[in-house]
Amino acid sequence: MSQDVTIYITDRNGQRHEVQAPTDMNMNVMEVIRSYELAEEGTIGICGGMAMCASCQCYILNDVVSLERNPEEEAMLWEAYHVKDNSRLGCQIPITEDLEGLELEIAPEQ
Ligand code: FES
Repeated sequence: MSQDVTIYITDRNGQRHEVQAPTDMNMNVMEVIRSYELAEEGTIGICGGMAMCASCQCYILNDVVSLERNPEEEAMLWEAYHVKDNSRLGCQIPITEDLEGLELEIAPEQ
């Protein structure tokens, strides 16, 4: 049986939101942010989740998800702005049951 996980997302205005993300819809963190409209339309998910735009950059605030980036993600973040040690691309983080309690902040617009 599938279930939702609870994720805490701080938007670009500093407001923290508690959201429920489904684990059975093949979604990623970027798509969850979009579906709850936590970032202005057109400022996130520009490449459609291909690790080619960095508009979905997030700062990971707890250890629920690994900070290890995949090679495409690493290459994109190398070129992006506002990158920190805890930056990940939201589109490269699939929603799985392991993400329960994840806390993240959406990075400033690129
Ligand atoms: S949506 Fe473009 S890198 Fe994630």
